[in-house]
Amino acid sequence: MGKIVGGIGTSHIPSIGAAMDNGTMVGEYWQRFVNGIQPVRDWMEEVKPDVCLIVYNDHASAFSLESIATFSIGVAPQFNPADEGYGPRQVPVCEGNSELAWHIAESLILDEFDMTIVNEMDVDHGLTVPLSVVYGRPKAWPCQVIPLAVNVVQYPQPTGNRCYNLGKAIRKAVESFPAETKVAIFGTGGLSHQLQGERAGLINVEYDCNWLDLMVNEPEAAKKVSHTEYLRETGSEGIEAIMWLVMRGALDDNVDEVYRFTHAPVSNSHYGLTILENASDRVTEGAMSTEPNV
Ligand code: DHB
Ligand code: FE
Repeated sequence: MGKIVGGIGTSHIPSIGAAMDNGTMVGEYWQRFVNGIQPVRDWMEEVKPDVCLIVYNDHASAFSLESIATFSIGVAPQFNPADEGYGPRQVPVCEGNSELAWHIAESLILDEFDMTIVNEMDVDHGLTVPLSVVYGRPKAWPCQVIPLAVNVVQYPQPTGNRCYNLGKAIRKAVESFPAETKVAIFGTGGLSHQLQGERAGLINVEYDCNWLDLMVNEPEAAKKVSHTEYLRETGSEGIEAIMWLVMRGALDDNVDEVYRFTHAPVSNSHYGLTILENASDRVTEGAMSTEPNV
């Protein structure tokens, strides 16, 4: 049977990928970040998920304003890194898992989530940066990847409630997959950032930290946070955080937050990382350090 072994929340800031690819993730600016993400690499090494189901958003790389799907799932056997203007990132191709992806697509659609099925797409920083955060720079990604894209770019985005319920339906789908498969689900994007307009550069650390507490401990309250509140408190791109609610919905009501790390600024964003496990069904023991040693 398929099993969700954990939930990872991580921002997907492109400069993280660029710094890793170019060997410039050194010096004072990156030191605390480098130390702060090590525990998630240790967790991945210990848990070794077979599949990473990555809930992310495409930033007009594979999709465009010509047609806007609210939820899409990639069922292809492979996904190439997208060219976002400087050539594709020099990171491995993602190997998919078509059998599981089609199973999830079928289960979700029969559960009345209208997924768009994507047979071919390149994946941009929204998906590849989280892989770089948790695996570093391997020759091949040590997991299969199922991309699940959410429209967070063009109003109207799905509600937090819809995202949370999608997570629940994803869990049901994974758990009804006949083959023994360990799945880690990722929520990516956020935390607060605004890349444009009068409030460009906005970061709201206090709001993000309270939101993280709510998302972890009171998801039924977190799913009710309105689009207007995200925009007002976390900037125009901070609304990416609704994707973390898909991840949260795929876990039990009670979770153990094994690890949390946040850092501001990374580029224009408040970087956030969390590792969640079901409290009644832990796959690792205890908690990891909560403060990076710098
Ligand atoms: C930044 C963050 C993002 O999530 C993104 O998609 C693009 C840029 C940033 O902080 O630079
Ligand atoms: Fe983004």
